[in-house]
Amino acid sequence: MKFSRSDFPQDFLFAAATSSYQIEGHGFGGAGQTHWDTFAATPGNVVRAEHGAIACDHYHRWEEDLGLMQAMGLDAYRFSTSWARVMPEGRGAVNADGLDFYDRLVDGMLARGLKPMATLYHWELPSALADKGGWANPDIAHWLADFATVIMEKIGDRVFSAAPINEPWCVAWLSHFLGGHAPGLRDIRAAAHAMHHVLTAHGRSVEAMRALGVQNLGAVCNFEDVYPADDSVAAQKAAQTYEGIYNRFFVGGLFNGSYPQDVLDGLEPYLPKGWDKDFDLIQQPLDWFGINYYTCKRVASDSGPWPSTKEVEGPLPKTQMDWEIKPDGLEHILTWLSKNYTGALPLYVTENGMANPDVVGQDDVARIDYLDAHLAAARRAMDQGAPLAGYTFWSLLDNYEWALGYEKRFGLVHVDFETLQRTPKASYHAIRDALCR
Ligand code: FCB
Repeated sequence: MKFSRSDFPQDFLFAAATSSYQIEGHGFGGAGQTHWDTFAATPGNVVRAEHGAIACDHYHRWEEDLGLMQAMGLDAYRFSTSWARVMPEGRGAVNADGLDFYDRLVDGMLARGLKPMATLYHWELPSALADKGGWANPDIAHWLADFATVIMEKIGDRVFSAAPINEPWCVAWLSHFLGGHAPGLRDIRAAAHAMHHVLTAHGRSVEAMRALGVQNLGAVCNFEDVYPADDSVAAQKAAQTYEGIYNRFFVGGLFNGSYPQDVLDGLEPYLPKGWDKDFDLIQQPLDWFGINYYTCKRVASDSGPWPSTKEVEGPLPKTQMDWEIKPDGLEHILTWLSKNYTGALPLYVTENGMANPDVVGQDDVARIDYLDAHLAAARRAMDQGAPLAGYTFWSLLDNYEWALGYEKRFGLVHVDFETLQRTPKASYHAIRDALCR
């Protein structure tokens, strides 16, 4: 790798990320059913109908996995807590084994010099709450805040940072409008409700964690670098709409206390009643903001009702996900956010990485180049004043890539899903050399 630790400030944090459903194994330890279990069990939703019952068996192999991060020279580990593992029905009874698991995990991180960066919700909604309408139900704000209280009463004294929700766009739009993730809805009213409730749930959970004295609270959103597919006015308008929904809606709520007008033009009729009274709740003071970035998009106009957009294939080299590789998009997003929304608030890249059809023993040059180029872009954003405080590799392990099953390999460590054996890839070794030299 071209980068080394000394290219970044001394207190800059390097981390790796995973999420609970993608690695733990939800068949273990008394976890309740989640909407990903049922989404995966419904034909046509997930490649080969694969699910997270075993995943990487991190539930039993967590010590080995923490050891891998320690040996890589990482400073922090961004993990998530499964709501259904801790509260199998989403509310009420607590599964003591679930709480104990996260308790041990956090102690294990601290023992290995890894700062625990917790995300409360990385998508495995307990089925019992999905039955009640899930993210479309306004009560989800209280349900999530109650879960926040239960889990943080156990581990909140030892986490380095906490964020309630991973990627509001995926939780709301991808899952309720595009139908690509659980619960697989394609309904604009459900989507609009989820878009708003994901932010009220964020607000209530931050409030609940502050009340417990949990330190260093933030939010994590995902962003794409968006371009019109051609020079037409129609494509420019479509790109603006797409970019508004993806990039500006959630930060508008979190940092400006308003939603962008160009998104309201299409969404307002479907938002829950009284939505405009919720911004005091949504705009909780934050201590940091996290950015997940992978790719860019080219957008053209499409026939049909709002948002009337379609994605068009772009010219750049692509990853196994078919995502274009556009490192300067990260530079752009970081500088744009700090100038327009987050100001002096510390920023973290909370996810960045690529999928590759890896086999053990392969050279892994593509991933090394991808990471190097994105770290250089992050460094350029810092030179332009973006207050970036850390960078997180997605992902430590090959894992359950949602609707794409186990086929897309994002790991720095290869996982054989038959034997569950872990084998560090060349990118793992390259990062270790870059961090430790
Ligand atoms: C992000 C998700 C993460 C993983 C990566 C590839 O959107 O947060 O779980 O799926 O994409």
